[in-house]
Amino acid sequence: MYEQISHSLLNDILVELKKKNKPQKNMQFFYTRLGANFYAIYSLFNTLYGDHPDFKKHMLQLVETLMRQYSSRSGHLKKIDLEREKDHNWFLNQKWVGMALYCDGYADNLKDMLPRLSYLQELGVNLVHIMPICDCPEGKSDGGYAVRNFCKIDSRFGTFEDFDKLVTNLKKRDMLLTLDVVVNHTSDQHEWAVKAREGDKAYQDYYFIFDDRSIPDIYEESMPEVFPETAPGNFTWDESMGKWVMTVFNNYQWDLNYRNPSVFIEMLNIILFWANRGADILRLDAVAFLWKKMGSSCQNEREAHLILQLMKDCCQVTAPGVIFIAEAIVAPTEIIKYFGEDAINAKECEIAYNATFMALLWDAVATKKTILLNKGIHDIPQKLERATWLNYVRCHDDIGWGFSDADIVTAGYEPLSHRRFLVDYFTGNYEGSLAAGLAFGRNSETGDARISGSLASLAGLERALKNNDPDAISMAIKTILLLHGMILSFGGIPMLYYGDAIGTLNDDSYLNDESKNNDSRWVHRPKMDWEKAMQRTQPGTVEYSIFNAVKKMISIRKEIPAFADRNNRELLSVDNPHLFVFSRFDQINSSSRVLIIGNFDAEPQFLNLSPLQRMGFFQYDSIKNLCNGESMPAINENLMIPARSFYWLQA
Ligand code: GLC
Repeated sequence: MYEQISHSLLNDILVELKKKNKPQKNMQFFYTRLGANFYAIYSLFNTLYGDHPDFKKHMLQLVETLMRQYSSRSGHLKKIDLEREKDHNWFLNQKWVGMALYCDGYADNLKDMLPRLSYLQELGVNLVHIMPICDCPEGKSDGGYAVRNFCKIDSRFGTFEDFDKLVTNLKKRDMLLTLDVVVNHTSDQHEWAVKAREGDKAYQDYYFIFDDRSIPDIYEESMPEVFPETAPGNFTWDESMGKWVMTVFNNYQWDLNYRNPSVFIEMLNIILFWANRGADILRLDAVAFLWKKMGSSCQNEREAHLILQLMKDCCQVTAPGVIFIAEAIVAPTEIIKYFGEDAINAKECEIAYNATFMALLWDAVATKKTILLNKGIHDIPQKLERATWLNYVRCHDDIGWGFSDADIVTAGYEPLSHRRFLVDYFTGNYEGSLAAGLAFGRNSETGDARISGSLASLAGLERALKNNDPDAISMAIKTILLLHGMILSFGGIPMLYYGDAIGTLNDDSYLNDESKNNDSRWVHRPKMDWEKAMQRTQPGTVEYSIFNAVKKMISIRKEIPAFADRNNRELLSVDNPHLFVFSRFDQINSSSRVLIIGNFDAEPQFLNLSPLQRMGFFQYDSIKNLCNGESMPAINENLMIPARSFYWLQA
């Protein structure tokens, strides 16, 4: 859009930059994109920082950052940018299947990732999320999310040389790379924090630092605690500085102050740094927390969204092929906003964690019913066209029961006791439950807690194996496959978690490490057991059963255009409370509709297909089970779905 004020400011900036820098070649695409986005960039920057006395100076620095990073972007990446501009919905394709892993957990380090890539390809994974690799203090690292230096690779993981080789190799294999940018906070040992501690006012302004408790106490009135057991409160007393610092997560993670435009520009520079290193997708960590406002929960504030929009608009100028994942584990009505509101295309993050679906799936596992799952999914607002979910069953974090009390009531349960039931169920303290999870962040007043534990252990495999109970083992495997069957067909990018395709159990070894033993999330961050992984070739083993079934689902998913995410899902309400039923359709070829049915009960269940047929959702003479290619017997139109199983059916 052409607008006089911003246009004349841009002219001034460009004249200034021309004076400062040598003339640059091949800047045509940069200038076209800058021109197209500048009004939006200016407006957002002005809304956030317009009152700042150095507003113009910061605008200049912002444009200079975009230009400098564009100049150092490689020709190869610029070519990918152009390709993705043409095929701008590239990430909605059903061909993408991801896996999240630690490079020192899945392999030994970045170098050792190379010989381990073939396992991913064997499974069908073509998008790899390597968890944080930036330099962190040993011990106080929060699994890599307490960064000491954003532009340095932690020596435990390797060097930039190892990293570059890995990136080149991934590109050859047509595999995408996702990396984290921890935008909300730094380690207390980051250079900025060190300078702040030394009394540098400019760097103290990078954080929220207070002389006494008066302001922190006001903040605390409305701020919830993220880690109530291990890091209670949201402020930490820094002895050497003699001041209080805002630390929403662990006491060694200092929250960045985005009211300061310099912080925004620094972090944008870091985003572009990793974009230029070859990341295809950047996972922006803890984005709900980016803006702090007294009297609020300091989550999901409007300004947090403006910051993300500004990051997006800026990234589109320098590295338009790179897309963002929002890690916002918040209420469903809030998550959806991280795509950007009032838009068609995502104007904040193109991808968002579908934490709602994940938690609801686990609720269905525990209750063996899908009432809450159906209600929760039904209520998720329609998302934008050019935006997609990251669907997952497990990740490196705990499982929180993010659905609302009101939904729990609608589903016929009492909120407090239902939440307690879920905790009891997954910690194995409920009759009949074989789950072996651990409570995380327990609230001593309500008994509510989040849950840690590996997928297999939560699904009952660990205890079934201990009890040497073949039926229970089989039920646990079915549960694992049912959950994968859901995330692979729901619509979005399925993100598997390393170890889950071979049924990795809880790993207690973290208890021997003092820096980890107060954080039970480490129970599901194991070292990959490659000997166990070899069992995937041995028929009759647990590893074989899980790995080969998941592999098959992935390969089928890739062949079904209806599984691409184009807002082409219909949730179907059926009168069996154990079933989760939805259909996926291909907008071009409507006959290729797929009916997905998940039975969360431990007994077989029946579905009468005729109402679906009458309503036109699913026309059939015969039905094909896509997972084995066979035709299905639909006795009297009543289809039997075995216990803890799912079907992907095509008419
Ligand atoms: C994100 C990460 C989590 C970390 C937190 C603080 O939620 O997923 O592991 O503890 O941010 O950085």
